[in-house]
Amino acid sequence: MVVLGIETTCDETAAAVVERHDAGPGKILSNIILSQVNEHAAFGGVVPEIAARAHVEALDRIIGKAMADAGKTFDTIDGIAAAAGPGLIGGVIVGLTTAKAIALVSAKPLIAVNHLEAHALTPRLTDAVPFPYCLFLASGGHTQIVAVRGVGDYVRLGTTLDDAIGEAFDKTAKLLGLGYPGGPQVEQEALRGNPVRFLLPRPMHGRPEADFSLSGLKTALRLEAEKIAPLTDQDVADLCASFQQSVVDVVLDRLRAGLKIFRERYGPPNALVAAGGVAANQAIRKVLHRLAFEGGTVLVVPPPILCTDNGAMIAWAGAERLAHGLVDPLDVAPRARWSLEDVTGARPEQHSYLRMKS
Ligand code: KG4
Ligand code: ZN
Repeated sequence: MVVLGIETTCDETAAAVVERHDAGPGKILSNIILSQVNEHAAFGGVVPEIAARAHVEALDRIIGKAMADAGKTFDTIDGIAAAAGPGLIGGVIVGLTTAKAIALVSAKPLIAVNHLEAHALTPRLTDAVPFPYCLFLASGGHTQIVAVRGVGDYVRLGTTLDDAIGEAFDKTAKLLGLGYPGGPQVEQEALRGNPVRFLLPRPMHGRPEADFSLSGLKTALRLEAEKIAPLTDQDVADLCASFQQSVVDVVLDRLRAGLKIFRERYGPPNALVAAGGVAANQAIRKVLHRLAFEGGTVLVVPPPILCTDNGAMIAWAGAERLAHGLVDPLDVAPRARWSLEDVTGARPEQHSYLRMKS
């Protein structure tokens, strides 16, 4: 089964062609990603209107290249998948409408993929991880702990009550005058900083539910920075190191709570899986390894290019859904907000959603 995937929910214009077989990992035939990071850098964050326009300008070309690199035509693929949300609505409309047009003209099924579902299923593309597994998704827009039980069967065990982890890194970087996106810069500064110079809070510590809260940490950091301003280079490094240490401790504590809930409800997970840009952080990865080890499971982190937003994950999720006969009508709506738990799947009670048999 070969599927084209289109991703336009944030600041990456991406398209990919992926092949799925009934067993084993998938095969990425092409994976084209155009980052808009330079267009947004001056604003310290993604500007929705600029993003939508940039998607319009680039998408046709990106899809053409993905198809050419894969050696496929619209006649020789089995379906067209697009991220239909959640995300910045202008961009989502661009990607989904394009996918609808291709599906209509080529008479191929359309699969409207939830962007978070695509992150959640990526470890099956790379490593054929069997269900169920525990997903830690940490990006600029999302922080979630999810029990992935099957295609379309996701239970959110924890989420952030305020800022996403990547957002906290980005805001810290902005406050300290570092560039955007902030995560990599804060991590770099932290390498030469003192992680115990500033005593920052560990929000939600010890709570039995698996939720996160990051905004208090960000405020505490700002107050510490204001106390000692003007900042020297060493101050900036120490603030970054103290901030990152706090995030690492929070991730350890919150994921411990999440994994405990997972085990109680579903038994041991087949893997702890990390996805999203924050999973690139080495200090956070270290703590994820420790968590997997102490929980008697393995850590699976897809390569960075598949951890951050990309078309291959959309194509793969589309293929997984198509294999279950889960396709969508051409009038399916784009969604700015779309919780993973609202994604429909292949469970018997949901068969009314089936429109096509595989
Ligand atoms: O998944 P992603 O590429 O895009 C979405 O947000 O969907 O994640 C980007 C986020 C940004 O907030 C960025 O600062 C953060 O991931 N990030 C990192 C690192 N690399 C990227 N955060 C911490 N450490 C990093 N090395
Ligand atoms: Zn994402």
